[in-house]
Amino acid sequence: MTPLAHPNDSHRNPSLDLILSRTPPTFPEATVTLLEGLRNERLKTGTPNVSDRTGRFLYHLCRDRGHSHILELGTANGYSGIYLLEAISGSKSGHLLTIEIDRDDYLNAKRNLHPYRDHVTLVRSDATEFLRSAGDMRFDLIFIDALKSATLGHFLLARKLLNPGGTIVVDDVVKYSGKMSDFYAYLEANAIPYAIVMTDPDDGVMVLEPR
Ligand SMILES: C[S@@+](CC[C@H](N)C(=O)[O-])C[C@H]1O[C@@H](n2cnc3c(N)ncnc32)[C@H](O)[C@@H]1O
Repeated sequence: MTPLAHPNDSHRNPSLDLILSRTPPTFPEATVTLLEGLRNERLKTGTPNVSDRTGRFLYHLCRDRGHSHILELGTANGYSGIYLLEAISGSKSGHLLTIEIDRDDYLNAKRNLHPYRDHVTLVRSDATEFLRSAGDMRFDLIFIDALKSATLGHFLLARKLLNPGGTIVVDDVVKYSGKMSDFYAYLEANAIPYAIVMTDPDDGVMVLEPR
């Protein structure tokens, strides 16, 4: 199957698209400074973080849907994690579990996410290995942003860990659609509905709500 070059109308969801026009969230000063520092770091290191529009989309999606138990595959330096943690900051029991394979990224994220230590757990692991051993853990939102060519495997394991009414979001589904052709083929072959939200001019996130 030819990967999508750009989502067609059948994969657009106007109510999800509308989230992009929301007023950006107002974060505490310390968070603004933290995000700015990581943006500067990204300019030097090229860390492949989500864009700010994607971060804000994740933030609003979590808040709107009351998702407070979140799993992220692919922590990098914790940038997207900050948006997710800010989204659950109003929930006492809100929690982010985030998985990263790379030692330096893991250690860097541990430092960056220290202010959220009561609401975040970082695990250094291969995402597939983690998902296979997750047992009875359940999540409201699972954000898949690790090894792009492993997206199908991550999705198949992740959906078993989703609470009823939960959401799976996959990053980079336009730019890296070629690395995810088996994932797209699986969705089409099994008539699994999905929406693509163009958070950036050249890329977007996929939103799935498996029943
Ligand atoms: C696109 S970056 C994640 C960006 C992050 N979500 C953000 O926006 O700040 C992908 C990350 O996944 C990690 N990664 C790659 N393969 C992995 C795997 N098999 N298991 C877990 N993490 C993996 C990489 O080391 C990298 O840090």
